[in-house]
Formats: sequence, C-alpha cells, structure tokens
Amino acid sequence: MELIPIYEGGERLFYNENLFLPSTYYEELIKVVEMNLIRFYPTPWADRLVEALSSFLNVDEGSVLPGAGADDVLRMLISGADRVGIVEPAYSMYEHLARSMGKEVRSSVYPDIDPLAECDLIIVNTPNNPTGLSYSRGFVEELRSIGHVVVDEAYVEFSGSEGFLRDVDETLTVVRTFSKAWGLAGLRVGYAISPEEVVTLAKGRSLPYQVSAPSEAMAIRALEMSGLVHESVKEVERVRERLTGRLRAIGFEVPDSSTNFVFIKSLGREAWERLRARGFAVRLVDRPGARGIRITLVPWEVMDGLLEELEVIP
Ligand SMILES: Cc1ncc(COP(=O)(O)O)c(C=O)c1O
Repeated sequence: MELIPIYEGGERLFYNENLFLPSTYYEELIKVVEMNLIRFYPTPWADRLVEALSSFLNVDEGSVLPGAGADDVLRMLISGADRVGIVEPAYSMYEHLARSMGKEVRSSVYPDIDPLAECDLIIVNTPNNPTGLSYSRGFVEELRSIGHVVVDEAYVEFSGSEGFLRDVDETLTVVRTFSKAWGLAGLRVGYAISPEEVVTLAKGRSLPYQVSAPSEAMAIRALEMSGLVHESVKEVERVRERLTGRLRAIGFEVPDSSTNFVFIKSLGREAWERLRARGFAVRLVDRPGARGIRITLVPWEVMDGLLEELEVIP
C-alpha cells in the first residue's frame, strides 16, 4: 500500500494530517475489521474504546466521552452551554458549532479575557491552531475562574507534554482526537476527558452510536501501536525544527510550534495563491489575532520544494 495524499491540487498541506506513519501501521489497523463489525450495532457509547482509553491514559472509564471526532465531542459539550466563550485565534468550528445550536457567542483575543465574563463555557485551543503556540498554565487558570473551560488538545501529542489531562475537574474538560498524531482522520474518532457528571449530562443531550464499530476496533488497535505513533511524532519534530530554522533564516516571522504545522505570520493571499499555483496547497489564515499562512509538516523532500518557492517570495 502506498501512502499518497489524496488531493488533486498538489501537496496537501492544509489539513494537519500525520503523513509520517508507515503503511504497515495502516495495514495492521485494517486487519481488525471483520464481518461482524459491520453486521451488528456497536455499543451505544463505544465501551471497548472507553476501556482502552481509560487504561492508556490512566483515567476513570466514567470520565471518557467518546464521539465521531473531536468536532462531535465539542458539539456534545457546547450543547449544554448558554453562552459560549471562544479564545481567538481559534479553530473556526467552535463558532460554527455554537451558532448552529443557537448559542450566544463571545470572543476574546489572547491574552485578553475580559469579553468572556459571564460565559458558562469557554473553549481554548492549546497547542493552538493556527499559531502552533502552547498557552501557559497560568492563562488557562485565569479562564477557569470564569466558567467551565474546554481545552481542545487536538495537537497535544506533538507538544512533548501531557497537556491539561491531570487538571481535569468540574472546571476543566480536555478534548482529544485520533485525527492528528494518530494519523486516523478518516476514522472520525475523538474523545473528551471530563468529570463523570459532565460526561453523563453530555450523553443525555446527545446521540449514541456515533463511533462506528470498525472505527472503534481500529482506534483500539492504534493504541496498541503507540510506539509507531511516537516515532512519527519524533520525525515531525525534526522536520519542524529544520523548517522553522530555515524559514526564520529567510526572514519570516514563525512562532515556536508545538504542533505538526508551522505558521508564517503576515504572508497573505498573494503568497497563498502563488504557492497553490506551484502545487503547495497551504492554509490561508485570517482570524482575529492571526494572519498568515499555515503549513502542515510533511516529509522533508516536500518541505524542501516549498522552501524554494518561499525563498523567492518578495
Ligand atoms: C484545534 C482542532 N480541534 C479539532 C479538530 C477536529 O478534529 P476531528 O477530526 O477529531 O474532528 C481540528 C482539526 O483540524 C483542530 O485543528
């Protein structure tokens, strides 16, 4: 099996998928999909996956809320809120989810938190998409004094830290996914770690059976192969360091990334279009507090080609 990014517009550098995992990883995952997994219903709340995550992360089973990707888990959590606070720059789905459920939304731009007063649920993303930066514990503490904080840790595995997992309590929930470091965006599996009461309430407001049986089985198998994922993360870190250094040497402003992408501040539509035309499909970012171009880290040969294009950008 060859691992070819499925995108006709050139190199796919806009989704932050993990392209460093070997094909053997995926071959092993597919092996666990057997007939009965598509013939019968899964358990309503992916019991086997919850059990596997609980022992992998060393948390109580009751604190695991599984869903069809982090987006689905965020939807379940947001559904219980009255007023949703969003710390910008942020992943655009938060606002979309909150508004689609008729919630009042208030935004602030890091590090200002004043506009978030009176929010009962605050979503903060660290390590941050789009900047790649990790926020301090002190900043998250400040948010906790306002309302229940949902820390979206979609990229935490690339940060070399445990994130806020051990800080989970009635004021804090952590959301994670198999889509990024685990290289399984197509499976649509994510989860929250949250106090048991929050998990129970979220389930009560949501739909069961969101994690399909094949997805559940493959996610469990992936956890057993965490060594391969860890090695791929090390590769990402090497490429990240090399690319960041080269970009800074050209003169670009690049924040320290704790993720599998880098953010080049200030580059705009012109550079984005130029890169696309040359076969590098990167993400154009224009959010409060972050304007620039976001580039998914992929094997070095591609990054090298991209650098050649960036070197001649005026
Ligand atoms: C910060 C952040 N949270 C959540 C997600 C979505 O994750 P999932 O694929 O698990 O829905 C993404 C995907 O880009 C993301 O960047």
